[in-house]
Amino acid sequence: MSFNKQTIRDIDVAGKTVLVRADYNVPLSSTGKITDNYRIKQSLPTIKYLLEKHAKVVIISHLGRPEGKIDKKFSLRPVADELRHLLAPVDVKFAHDCVGAEIQKAVSELHNGEVLLLENLRFHMEEEDNNSDFAKQLASLAEIFVQDGFGVVHRAHASTDSVTMFIPSVAGFLLEKEVDTITNVMEVPKRPLVTIIGGAKIADKIDLLNKFIEISDFVAVGGAMANTFLKAINLDIGHSVYDKTEINLAKDILDKAHEKSTNQSFNFFLPQDAVVAKNISNLSHTRIVDWSSHMIADIESYPRKPSSNDFKISKDEMILDIGPFSAAFIAGAIQLAGSVIWNGTLGVTETPSLHGPVGPFARGTETVVESMLGDFGHRPFSLVGGGDTVGYLESRKIIDSFDHVSTGGGASLELMTGRKLPGVEALMDKKEKARI
Ligand code: 3PG
Repeated sequence: MSFNKQTIRDIDVAGKTVLVRADYNVPLSSTGKITDNYRIKQSLPTIKYLLEKHAKVVIISHLGRPEGKIDKKFSLRPVADELRHLLAPVDVKFAHDCVGAEIQKAVSELHNGEVLLLENLRFHMEEEDNNSDFAKQLASLAEIFVQDGFGVVHRAHASTDSVTMFIPSVAGFLLEKEVDTITNVMEVPKRPLVTIIGGAKIADKIDLLNKFIEISDFVAVGGAMANTFLKAINLDIGHSVYDKTEINLAKDILDKAHEKSTNQSFNFFLPQDAVVAKNISNLSHTRIVDWSSHMIADIESYPRKPSSNDFKISKDEMILDIGPFSAAFIAGAIQLAGSVIWNGTLGVTETPSLHGPVGPFARGTETVVESMLGDFGHRPFSLVGGGDTVGYLESRKIIDSFDHVSTGGGASLELMTGRKLPGVEALMDKKEKARI
């Protein structure tokens, strides 16, 4: 299915004032430095295209959740600096608000081929309330509205929904690419399709898990979410993080997966070994426990027979990564895949390493990534869901190596599960004549 909304290619933007909604909700350090500029970089093709067409580009975005109050720590000023750096020699101006007479004036003083970034939309409560007066004020700043903030189109806010009532509204290149790529992989994946899901809570990704079981040939689960499944099958997981309230949910999902695998070739893979330690620290002593094959316990104890403790997680230990056997198994499945969809890291990847680039609980994720990127010979199509996974790939400097890494967290989850996105629905259809 191809993207059925008008884009900036379908409308005459030459010399016009164009209001671009971006998602510059980027992570900042305690000193206000941007720690991951992936979303900003991904917004550049649309901005550059508009600049080539001599448009005046006014950009709006939110940052964080300031709940309608002005709060300096959520200012978009650092984003303006980053954008200026990335667009050099084009100057990027910054305005201290997003509506009002002064902002109208700043926009009217803009020259063709210039960029103006407005301050955080969420400093006004009206943004999240989808307030139409506020949306009208935003719309009055420009002649055309371009939605390019894929990460926020699952929200019906003034700058994603109501604004489109007042001004011709089309999609930018990032939005088009995200919706097209994700929809195509979900609907007509190159098979076999391998899906890998990690993260903390099953409930957060229940719809995605169900969807993955429905469409995949192989589903692998990792991260803290896997612990709840392991608990549900009565494995002793020591003091690993898991969610007591989700045990029944895990059992239902396992039943569903089991039902599918009795009717067709399908594999729902739960970790069979893990890296465990007494606490989450890069100073902790780690060991591998393989509760399924006992292979590692056998090798480590040889020529002795391993004691039962060697293949059991003890009460004071916790699972912090999938083990080498599980990682190799998933990597093997990827080598047979036509496409892979991955959402969520498989261990506590944020724990830094004392030496070398890979953290002590990121080895499983690394092996799976190597397989996805073709290090073992075959390279399937790879789609990576946004959120925390992006932070990990940025820290490893491998984000550009995948076929598509989504800029959206919640938005990509919703799109993958087949939900309509209000910020996309509101845009002009391909065949629609200008409605305003
Ligand atoms: C995101 O980071 O997922 C988007 O920018 C949406 O942010 P929100 O969850 O605060 O609406």
